[in-house]
Order: sequence, then structure tokens, then C-alpha cells
Amino acid sequence: MKPVTFNNTVLRDGHQSLAATRMSTAQMLPAAPILDEIGFSGLETWGGATIDSCLRYLNENPFDRLRALKKAAPKTPQIMLLRGQNIVQYTSFPDDVVEAFVRANAAAGQDVFRVFDALNDTRNLATAIKTVLDCKKHARGEICYTTSPVHTIEAFVKMGIELEGMGCHSIGIKDMSGIMTPKIAYDLVKELKGKLGIPIVLHTHDTAGLGAAAYLAAIEAGVDIVETSIVPFANGTGQPDTVRMLALLEGHPRRPDYDPAKLQQLRLHFEDVYQQLSKFTSPANERVDSDILVFQVPGGMLSNFRNQLAEQGMADKFDEVVREIPVVREALGWIPLVTPTSQIVGTQAMMNIKFGRWKMICQPAQDIALGKYGKAPGPINPEILAMCEKQTNSKAVTCRPADLLEPGLEGYRSQCAEKGLPTTDEIAVLFAMFPQQIEALVKGVPAAESKPATAPAKAAEVPAQIPASSGSGVNGCREMVLTIDGRRHHVLVEKLEA
Ligand code: CO
Repeated sequence: MKPVTFNNTVLRDGHQSLAATRMSTAQMLPAAPILDEIGFSGLETWGGATIDSCLRYLNENPFDRLRALKKAAPKTPQIMLLRGQNIVQYTSFPDDVVEAFVRANAAAGQDVFRVFDALNDTRNLATAIKTVLDCKKHARGEICYTTSPVHTIEAFVKMGIELEGMGCHSIGIKDMSGIMTPKIAYDLVKELKGKLGIPIVLHTHDTAGLGAAAYLAAIEAGVDIVETSIVPFANGTGQPDTVRMLALLEGHPRRPDYDPAKLQQLRLHFEDVYQQLSKFTSPANERVDSDILVFQVPGGMLSNFRNQLAEQGMADKFDEVVREIPVVREALGWIPLVTPTSQIVGTQAMMNIKFGRWKMICQPAQDIALGKYGKAPGPINPEILAMCEKQTNSKAVTCRPADLLEPGLEGYRSQCAEKGLPTTDEIAVLFAMFPQQIEALVKGVPAAESKPATAPAKAAEVPAQIPASSGSGVNGCREMVLTIDGRRHHVLVEKLEA
């Protein structure tokens, strides 16, 4: 069997998981040529929360970052994480916006697109994958890993076969919570390798201490690529460290050969950067914590839960609320707990305890039940669905959610023109997702980071705050505030008849 290779994630997931996505392009550039020399099979440098962070906190044009990194590391394919129809946001965008985003990104030099959907609804991946193929770039279809009665090896393999059929060049297994055990990693990779003809990549996090062992098991089963980072932007809630992984593979026939001196150079550079970002790092992210395995919910969600319940005067209800999470997940078709579904499930679990089970349903939970995010992996509880339909006076969506959206690109382009912004595809697609931020960037208004009073947003894969405050009642509704990635969303919570 040929050696396994590593993709390196330090310039994207590494700092997203351990330093609230705050690494700047200037902090990356000195490392880029060294990363490029080592011979990694890919560098994850873009997408996920980095685009949001560039605009919101770092005063950077994310496309300029991509071009700079391509110039500084031209040899190694660069990888981005794309949330399918949500691009790098949390709601669906029309197909023409998704297509324009992928085309602009490909033109700026992106090589590999990791495309995923939080619900594993492949209809939400189709437009992005097709556009990547049209641009002659590498499409890596991602399978989001979670545990539930409907998330079986068989179901994951079926999705892998479907992604291969859609033209993907490789398949990624995305274990965003770091809950994949070595046994599952082995079995899943073995099955996928047996049934598919394209390379398999495993992506995990060391949150619960399983990551490196899961990689080792996957390597035994024939996985083609695993993803590692560089200490101190590694381990804990990040990917296992590269040097650590190489040590684990010492004497293994599939061990790749990467220059230890260069890896040491990178470590020294990133130690320095980590120090500079100390405001955004936290011991809670650095440690291995098996809470996630005990409670079956992401670690970041638990720590936020504790804070939020305390704010609501519900600190003593922690156990009850955590026990309610699987109840909500099951009713909503066993949706995986990944941004933004983790916040929604958490909010609903809290409301079930606070107001009585299903006495009030928050609007995002209604949207999930009504299929507005896509098809849930399992069936929606019919009683909950009927309540949501009655309450919203609407029927569940059974088509692909984006089929209900009119083309939007030209509209965004003319809004850019009205505001005196450039009308290029790059600006128009950024405007579609981050209108205020891109306007501020182009017009030279300093980004939010100059106001240190704002709490740092945590990594996108680490769920942010659950309900912050309940407001006054309006027509029997309660207003609540849902904070996702540091952004506050006001939601009206309606009282339902049981
Ligand atoms: Co990740």
C-alpha cells in the first residue's frame, strides 16, 4: 500500500479551532513557503469561518489572502471548506450566487473544494460540486459524521457512492466534533475503500483525544489522506499535530517522509503567532476533554450552555437541558450537531425545559422541521411537524430549498453599484453574505477588532451562544436573542397550542 499523505490545516482549521479564526495573512505568509516545501498533499487555507473573520475582524479582503497565499505557496494544492448552498454562511443562497462564488474562487487560484452540508442532504451540494467540476477544479465531497440511530456505516457509504456518482474527485469524512472512534474510522474507511474508486480523506479533531488514534486506524484501513496541523494550532479542538502523527507512525510501512527540520521551523513560527493571538486562545480548547463523548454534544456547546443557563437563572437545570438534547434531535430527524444546527437544537432543548416540552418552538427549529434547511437524515416527528405547519400556516418543503429561491446575483450587483462598491463577482458574492462588512472594508472603515469590548467569536464549528435573553412579549410571542459566531439574531418565539 502506498504511503498515506497529510494535508495541513494550520492556516484554516488550526486557528479556527484554537484561536477564534484570528490568524492574519501577515502572520501566515512567512510560513507559506516552508509549508509549500514540505510536500503536503494539500494546504487548507480558506473557507469555513476565515472569510467572515477576514471581513469582520481583520480588515482583509479574503480573495486577496487567497492570491497572496497562492503566490507564496504555489506548488501545493490549496483547499477551501465550502458549506454547499450556504457558501460560507448559514442560510441558502440562490444557485447563481453559489456558482459565481465558486467561479470567482477558482479564478483566484483555489484548487480543492471541500463541499459539505450540515444535514448531509446531497441536493444542497449539487450546484457547488457541478460548478467546481465546470471550473476544472478538484471537488471533494464531504460526509459529515455524527452518531444517531440513522447514521450507520451503510448510510455513510451510500452517501459516498452518491457523491462519487456526482463526479467528486475524492471523498472527505468530516468528523467536526472529534467523536469518531478508531473502530468506526477503520470500518468506515474499509467500506468506502471497498465500494469507491476515488481517494478517501479523513478529517477529525482531537477534542476528545480520539483524533490521532482514529487516523492510525484509518491508515491501517487504507485511507489515502489524513489532515494534521502544527503545534500550537493543533491537538485539543484542532487537528492532531503533524510531528505527533509522524511519531505515531514510526516504523509503519505507510509513514510519509516530511522534513523534521522544516516542521520545527514551522513550529517556532507558529509559537510566536499563538502568543500574538493569546487574547483568542483558551485552555478549554487546548485540553483533551471527554465530556463530548459523555454528553454526545460538541464541547464548545457545553461550555456555552453553562454560561447561558447561568445568565437565564437556569444553572441548576444543566443536566435536564443536556438530557433534552437527544429528545430534540430525534424529533427533528436526528440532525447532526454542527453550526448552525447545534445552536438551534440547544436553544430548543432549553426552551423545552423552561416552558415545557414543545410548548414553544423557536423559529429556526420550525424551519428545520419544515425542511427549509434540507431533508433531515431521519423522519421528523409527525406531531411536531403538524404543530409547526399549523403555527406557521405553511406546508413542509419537500423540494431542494434553493429551488424556491429566485436568481440573486444581479440584484446583489446592483446593490453594490448603488452603494458605490465595485460590481465584480468577488465583491457581489461577498456582498450577498456580508453586506455591511464588505462595504466597510471597501470604504476603509476599521473592522470590529478595534473595539475590544466585543466578545471574540469562537470557531464556526464550535457552537456559539444559545439564547441570551428573553425580551418582552409581543402578541403572545417572546423575543429571544440567538448568537451565532458572535452575531446576534433576534428571534420571535411563538406560543403553540399543545
Ligand atoms: Co474541522
